[in-house]
Amino acid sequence: MKQARVIGIGSHLPKNILTNKDIEEKCDTTDEWIQKRTGIKSRHIIEPGQGSSDLALPAAQEALEMAGITPEEVDIIVFCTITPDQLAPGSASILQGKLGATNAAAFDVNAACSGFVNGLAVADSLICSGKYNNVLLIGAEVQSNRMLWHNRDTAILFADGAGAMVLTASDSDEDSSQVMTTHLGSDGSSYEILHLPRGGSREIFTMDNFDKDGYKIHMNGTELFKRAVVKFVSVCQEALDATGLTMDDVDLFVPHQANKRIIEAAGQRMGIDPEKVALTIEYTGNTTAASIPIALDHAYKDGRVKKGDIILVAAFGAGLTWASAIIRW
Ligand code: COA
Repeated sequence: MKQARVIGIGSHLPKNILTNKDIEEKCDTTDEWIQKRTGIKSRHIIEPGQGSSDLALPAAQEALEMAGITPEEVDIIVFCTITPDQLAPGSASILQGKLGATNAAAFDVNAACSGFVNGLAVADSLICSGKYNNVLLIGAEVQSNRMLWHNRDTAILFADGAGAMVLTASDSDEDSSQVMTTHLGSDGSSYEILHLPRGGSREIFTMDNFDKDGYKIHMNGTELFKRAVVKFVSVCQEALDATGLTMDDVDLFVPHQANKRIIEAAGQRMGIDPEKVALTIEYTGNTTAASIPIALDHAYKDGRVKKGDIILVAAFGAGLTWASAIIRW
C-alpha cells in the first residue's frame, strides 16, 4: 500500500501590485472599507497577455527544485483553476509543454476556491492507487482580467497568483510524512450564489450579449459569508474526526483566503489559536484555487512548517464546494 508525501512546494505572485487606493479609482469604495470588511490591503495582478500557466510555471519549477525531481520525472500534472489560459486545452497540458514534463499526463480540476484541496484529494488517490509516483499539483488563477472593475462586490476581492506542490509515493507508514485524510463536499442546488453564467456552453459570448455585465461574476457575498463559516467548521471537524486528532494537535491551519473576517469567525468557532493560522490575504486578496498553496508556501518560507507538523487545510467557494485535508509534513 502506497501513501502520498509532500516533498516540494512553491508559489509565484506577479510583480504588479494593485492597492486599495488604486481600486478606489475604479469603483465606489474606500481603502478603509476594504481593509475593515475583508482584511485586504493590496493584491498582485498579471501583465496583459499572461495566463494561469505563466504564473504556474515558476511556482512549479520552485516546487520541483525543492522536491529534487526533474520535470521528466513527473507522472501527472493536476492543474486546479477556474481561469484556464483558454477554453481548451486545459492549462495542465499547456504547463506540461512549457515545463518539459514530457512523461506526464495532464488534466485540469475546476472546483473554484476548493479546487486545490479537491486536487489534493485526486493526487492522493492517484498515488495511493499505486499507478503514479510523482504528482505535480497546481493551483493558479488569473482573476484580474475577469474583473469588471466598476463592480465593487468582486473588484475588491479577487486577484492573481499560483502555487504548486509535489507529492510522491512512499511505502505505507502511519507515522511518516503523508496526506492523512481528505474530505470533499458540494451543494449544487445553490450554485447561483456565486457564478459566472456566460461564456460556457449554455450561453456563449456574442457581440450582442457582451454588454457591460456580460462577463460579470454574480455573487451574494453575505450569504456566502454565512455558509463559508459554517462549512469551514464542519469540514475541518470531519478531518479531525477521521484522524483522531484534535484542534490542539494542529500546528498550522491554512484556510482558503477569501475574507479575513470569515477566517477569524471560523477560527474562533473551532477554537484555534490565531497564531497558528496562515494569513496572506492582506497582500494577495482572494486568488481562488491558488490561495492555499500560496499561503502554505509563504508559511514554509517563513519557517513556520517543520517536519512532522500537522497541517490542516480547508476551503469553501463556488459550486458551492467545500473541502479539507490534513497533511503530516
Ligand atoms: N465598498 C464600500 N462599501 C460597500 C462595498 C464596497 N466594496 N460593498 C458593500 N458596501 C456597503 C453596502 O452597500 C452596505 O452599505 P449599507 O450598510 O449602507 O447598506 C455595507 O457596505 C455592508 O454591505 P455588506 O454587503 O453587508 O458587506 P459585508 O460585510 O458582507 O462585506 C463582502 C461584503 C463581499 C466583502 C463579504 O460579504 C464577503 O467577503 N463575502 C464572502 C465573499 C467570498 O468569500 N467570495 C468568494 C468565495 S470564496
